[in-house]
Amino acid sequence: MGNLRAEDFLPTLRDRGTGTAEFRTVSDEIARLLCAETLERLGQGNADRIMLVPVLRAGLALLPAFASAMPAAPVAFVGIARDEETALPDLYYTRFPAVMPPRALIIDPMLATAGTACMVADMLMREGLPADAIHFVGVLASREGLVRLAGVIPCTNISVVAVDPELDTRKFIVPGIGDYGDRYFGT
Ligand code: PRP
Repeated sequence: MGNLRAEDFLPTLRDRGTGTAEFRTVSDEIARLLCAETLERLGQGNADRIMLVPVLRAGLALLPAFASAMPAAPVAFVGIARDEETALPDLYYTRFPAVMPPRALIIDPMLATAGTACMVADMLMREGLPADAIHFVGVLASREGLVRLAGVIPCTNISVVAVDPELDTRKFIVPGIGDYGDRYFGT
């Protein structure tokens, strides 16, 4: 079998019949591949000085692969949940280091409207990071979300496995994966 790429695992995540155990195993594999690709893209100099910023909750699914590959990287936490009615991001928790590193990597598997990722990028910029020092890594984006985030940070700093064409009326990615956090954590 040749080398599998992250996109080869996406059909399993998209399949509604995939249960928690398989979803988690496949997501962990994707996280390792995404992390290897991110390290290559960042270059060793930048990777050594980057802060990981997983977005609670689903970002925690990807964190172990990144934290293990970058054992010295500080980890900041941002808790944001989308309002189910409005789909707008609601910030409920933040924990940044006292001294901000020069670069940050926002980690969140899903980029739908990009309201969440843009809120995190804004917070990082208010902490003093320039837009081009902020990176995003995820699994699935909507075209709309990708365009919106690329209006805030450079598009070359955004890395996702796949881009789906649209959002539905509830602002879920279509065809999408469903609620990544619920599926990964079995809730
Ligand atoms: C999901 C996802 C992103 C956000 C994406 O989180 O993990 O954080 O929605 O949507 P957006 O691009 O339209 O802002 P959710 O709000 O479902 O919270 P959860 O991870 O705690 O389930």
